[in-house]
Amino acid sequence: MSFDQSLVATFYEKHPYPYRPSGNSGDETLIGIPSDLRFINHYVFGGRRDFKKKLRLLVAGGGTGDALVGLGRQVSRLGCPAELVYVDLSSRSRQIAEERCRKLGLEGIRFHTGRIQDIAEAEPEPFDYIDFCGVINHVGEQQEVVDLLATLLAEDGGMGVMAYGQLGRTGVYHVQDMLRMSGAGHEDVKMARALLGALPETNWHRRNAIFAHTENEPDVEIADRYLNPADRAFSVSELRDIMNAAGLEIAAFVPPLLYDAATEIADRELRERIAKLAWIDRCIFAELFHGDIAMHNFYVVKAGRRPDADRLLGEKSAIPIMTSIPTGQAPTVANGRYGFSMKFGPQIRQLALPGTEHTAAIIRAIDGTKTLQQIHRTLPGNLSWRQFQREFALVYRGLNGAGEMVLSMSPIPR
Ligand SMILES: C[S@@+](CC[C@H](N)C(=O)[O-])C[C@H]1O[C@@H](n2cnc3c(N)ncnc32)[C@H](O)[C@@H]1O
Repeated sequence: MSFDQSLVATFYEKHPYPYRPSGNSGDETLIGIPSDLRFINHYVFGGRRDFKKKLRLLVAGGGTGDALVGLGRQVSRLGCPAELVYVDLSSRSRQIAEERCRKLGLEGIRFHTGRIQDIAEAEPEPFDYIDFCGVINHVGEQQEVVDLLATLLAEDGGMGVMAYGQLGRTGVYHVQDMLRMSGAGHEDVKMARALLGALPETNWHRRNAIFAHTENEPDVEIADRYLNPADRAFSVSELRDIMNAAGLEIAAFVPPLLYDAATEIADRELRERIAKLAWIDRCIFAELFHGDIAMHNFYVVKAGRRPDADRLLGEKSAIPIMTSIPTGQAPTVANGRYGFSMKFGPQIRQLALPGTEHTAAIIRAIDGTKTLQQIHRTLPGNLSWRQFQREFALVYRGLNGAGEMVLSMSPIPR
């Protein structure tokens, strides 16, 4: 059966996503993965993007505008000469996105209503970054769309993607099937709620803790998840195959620790065997191991161009940037560990990250502007640069792994 794009367009005319009621507050500080420029700089440009240069950004399937608002605000605070382009099938979503940008004074954004597949006609110049968040799940013909986006990427550019995770969404597609069998149309939110409320304890959706509080979610969220005319989820290996077929390569999943099961396995032999796998196979292993990844957030680049921001660990002028730990605050390290809440999508996992007597002082000194050398100089205890590097690398492995820290050669405000 061939894919009917008009069903998707009609659906998102009726249910603009995400739900951003008029008067929505918080846009002044809104920021998210994958469209956070600090993460894009780290995972696509190896932390070395020069923001004085022109930056061309495409938000493909931009919906009601979250990525546009976040990116627009960040490039404007940086004074970066950026060109921002938006495309979406839904004209109602575009209206909401335009209104939000207007309220923030973000000007010069080019808006297109239509298919991503046709955007090259209006916007043929290559893009440095393409935001493709939550859209691959609904495009119907994923390979065709990813192939097209790959042709629109600059040689050293990259794409930030959110794709639904197959295992983590266990049960969602059972509910979708039952609603389809009941003849539910995309407006039958009441029927969807009735079915969800009736599910027995043995049902896989009911067993999936990620969706335990569905009853409190707005109608748009219920419609999007259970009544969507085109919705599919992906395993890590499927995503790798789609990206590779388009001449792209997955550069990183975020948070990286979620895609590394070895840290949670006590048995040394098993851990060593996993460590020997290729990186992407370790990610495939970790997805099976955890079983609860409902959203894959990741960055892709052209094949063979995977950047390595970890190299900045050796640069005295590199700047560590935190995403949520406020400047001046630090955890308490006890018995070589400190607690950290790792956020991924709607979920949170409590971690115990490794630390030493220097960890708290290092974390406290990070303010998003100080270089590694400056942080080194603030520390008590006369650590040599080599000792500091070892101490900092420990902090970085933990906090970067948990999706909290990135590195950059220049400050990037929130
Ligand atoms: C779940 S929403 C995600 C919106 C936004 N990217 C976000 O994450 O907040 C999916 C969006 O993709 C758009 N879309 C789906 N297929 C498309 C296509 N082929 N071309 C353009 N837009 C498309 C829909 O109209 C909808 O606004």
